[in-house]
Amino acid sequence: MLRVVQVGYGYWGANIARKLTASSRFDFKALCEILPDRIAKARRELPESVRVWEHYEDYLENPEIDAFVIATQTENTYEIGMKAMAAGKHVFMEKPLATTVERALALRERAFSTGMILHCDHIMLYNPYYRYIKKLYDAGELGDLIYFDVEKLNLGPIRMDVNALMDLAVHDVAVLDWFSDGQMPEQLSAFGAKPFGQQETLTYLTMKYSSFLAQLKSSWVSPLKVRQTVVAGTRKMVIFDDMSLNEKVRIYDCGIDVIPAKEYMDYAFLTRRGDIHIPYIEFEDSLQNSLEYFENCVQKGRQSRSGPDEALRVMKVLERAQKAMVS
Ligand SMILES: NC(=O)c1ccc[n+]([C@@H]2O[C@H](COP(=O)([O-])OP(=O)(O)OC[C@H]3O[C@@H](n4cnc5c(N)ncnc54)[C@H](O)[C@@H]3O)[C@@H](O)[C@H]2O)c1
Repeated sequence: MLRVVQVGYGYWGANIARKLTASSRFDFKALCEILPDRIAKARRELPESVRVWEHYEDYLENPEIDAFVIATQTENTYEIGMKAMAAGKHVFMEKPLATTVERALALRERAFSTGMILHCDHIMLYNPYYRYIKKLYDAGELGDLIYFDVEKLNLGPIRMDVNALMDLAVHDVAVLDWFSDGQMPEQLSAFGAKPFGQQETLTYLTMKYSSFLAQLKSSWVSPLKVRQTVVAGTRKMVIFDDMSLNEKVRIYDCGIDVIPAKEYMDYAFLTRRGDIHIPYIEFEDSLQNSLEYFENCVQKGRQSRSGPDEALRVMKVLERAQKAMVS
């Protein structure tokens, strides 16, 4: 069992704490939080065996702690992660890994110099539906990728420390990194709107990879909650609708066939519409998968696939997009 301290008990931290409590792979020793109302909430909700405490620093030198699970606002995660690894603790870091590439590089270096496992919670890499689609893609069922369109829309929750791109598109950039085996986009453009303050509450990111396009729409100002991805290949296309209860993944046997003619350079295009397949995919909790995968990495002593290298590549794309953003 991995003996852990969690830092931060906000909206997402409360979810993480529930999974840590329920999993037999973790010995959840303590929860650190600084806001009095959240401390009181944690005391009400967590088992008595979890000590609720204000100062995470008090656990840095504690030999009974193996790892830190960090779920604070993004601007605060860097300092905690750096200190934890320097003190010999493994780190489960909420996404995005950091606010800048410079910080992501420093975290990566700290992980390698201390030999600690650094796992960034790019949760979609541990999602059973994306895993299914990736398997189809790897098996050649979809053909070559043409485009990847993602819509992540909702009314809030508005974050103060990062914009919608850093909060939402980070997941999709990580998925693109996974599907493309770590390719970086050749070109990108980004547009954002800030109708309510300093941060973009709506962003459109368009990227050209060497052989496919990607478009990521991330919004906190939508009347509807939408979580939809279209993965279009030359053979088949897939729609992943995370809001659907029972039909999250639909595989469309459709595309465009090129019919060669006798004459050179003379050919025709034929649209093809075939069956729509809805596979049964067993439910798995992505957050629990991500946490338990981290635990496994620590036990086996190998870096996470959403670890220092992958998370740095994702940060590089996000930072390029931030710099290119026209708001
Ligand atoms: N993986 C996912 O799908 C997913 C989903 C939502 C949020 N997140 C990430 O989780 C993190 C937390 O999000 P949230 O919505 O819970 O934010 P939040 O603002 O609701 O909560 C953050 C909490 O951390 C506490 N905190 C900050 N600094 C602290 C410190 N030094 N010591 C102790 N506590 C401290 C704050 O008091 C606050 O209660 C963010 O990084 C966010 O990007 C990930």
